[in-house]
Amino acid sequence: MSGGGDDYKREESVVLIVIVSLAALSLLSLIAAFAYYCYITRKVSRRLNSHQLPKRSSSPAPVPLPPPVIPPQGKESPSSNSASDGAAAGALVVGAERGVQLFGYRQLHAATGGFGRAHMVGQGSFGAVYRGVLPDGRKVAVKLMDRPGKQGEEEFEMEVELLSRLRSSHLLGLIGHCSEGGHRLLVYEFMANGCLQEHLYPNGGSCGGISKLDWPTRLRIALEAAKGLEYLHERVTPPVIHRDFKSSNILLDKDYHARVSDFGLAKLGSDKAGGHVSTRVLGTQGYVAPEYALTGHLTTKSDVYSYGVVLLELLTGRVPVDMKRPPGEGVLVNWALPMLTDREKVVQILDPSLEGQYSLKDAVQVAAIAAMCVQPEADYRPLMADVVQSLVPLVKNRSASKSCNPNVQASKPLD
Ligand SMILES: Nc1ncnc2c1ncn2[C@@H]1O[C@H](COP(=O)(O)OP(=O)(O)O)[C@@H](O)[C@H]1O
Ligand SMILES: [Mg+2]
Repeated sequence: MSGGGDDYKREESVVLIVIVSLAALSLLSLIAAFAYYCYITRKVSRRLNSHQLPKRSSSPAPVPLPPPVIPPQGKESPSSNSASDGAAAGALVVGAERGVQLFGYRQLHAATGGFGRAHMVGQGSFGAVYRGVLPDGRKVAVKLMDRPGKQGEEEFEMEVELLSRLRSSHLLGLIGHCSEGGHRLLVYEFMANGCLQEHLYPNGGSCGGISKLDWPTRLRIALEAAKGLEYLHERVTPPVIHRDFKSSNILLDKDYHARVSDFGLAKLGSDKAGGHVSTRVLGTQGYVAPEYALTGHLTTKSDVYSYGVVLLELLTGRVPVDMKRPPGEGVLVNWALPMLTDREKVVQILDPSLEGQYSLKDAVQVAAIAAMCVQPEADYRPLMADVVQSLVPLVKNRSASKSCNPNVQASKPLD
């Protein structure tokens, strides 16, 4: 009897050991799975924070990334990032990555008439910009970097990195680039009407030049540029802060549709609501938000400030800083801000070349938006989505009704 009891007890303890071992095993697997999950989560978040991949947010519906551009002809070797200087000028595309083409230096040299003066359309902080035509007939603008060193290299990389991942009809499209030897070139779609700045100040900013940009066109440009910033701030995660938003970085196509350009100074913003990133102060005088200039704390609201300055340029036809103006009028924001919310005074600050094309109601409304954007306190500035919403009805109104001034001709493209 006692032998049977012992057997029973032994069996019981074996079963117990098996159960305990199984439980321990399951616990171990659970711990291992959890550790692996933590490792992956950390890796993904580190990747996002290391300025690598702006991810689209879920709302509104994510827009698919652009398909790779298929080279129209010529040799393609996707594994190669460079081509020798001796490559034939006609050899089109050296490689393709993430929807942008890799060009050979020779090819861009040929497309722009050897970077000749006749092809030059502008000179920016990065270098000269040339008009060019690719062998397939596409018109392009080629930026030739003439700024050696770390800063230039960083700007080049940021521009390529961001523009090959972002896609919006309100941002300037990057067609490709060339990083061959010491050459750094960027190839964009050609914008036939150049930049907004040239059209606002035909005399290069000095008094007397009369802008041909009419009121409806200015309103539409304001709206399209606002949509470009709205996309950067609110449709990608983490948000992209442009950091150099200004009238020379708003380019106009043959029909005066606007696109935001130049992402060389862009920064990925904080994911936290109201959070900032600390960085060295870069940008253009007259457009930089005061808190960023003082503390280096950068948020999307710094771009909203710069946008407000551009809105003031559109309203007043004045450059952001002009110390040749009478005392108190040199800095556009300081001069205009006290008058922007006063109906009577708004009329006095409007660009004389608009010659009463606007309805006072619309002008007062645009002035009020500008006033909000250039608030010294960043928290009081609106989101770009709010700006877009406020401008949409004004642009719709304008396109529904004819221009108030029948003598004003619609602006014509330059070429
Ligand atoms: N994609 C383009 N199409 C046509 N013209 C362009 C294009 N990009 C730049 N430009 C012209 O070249 C000028 C210099 O551009 P850019 O190098 O961006 O200057 P900045 O550093 O002042 O922003 C612009 O003002 C514009 O007239
Ligand atoms: Mg520019």
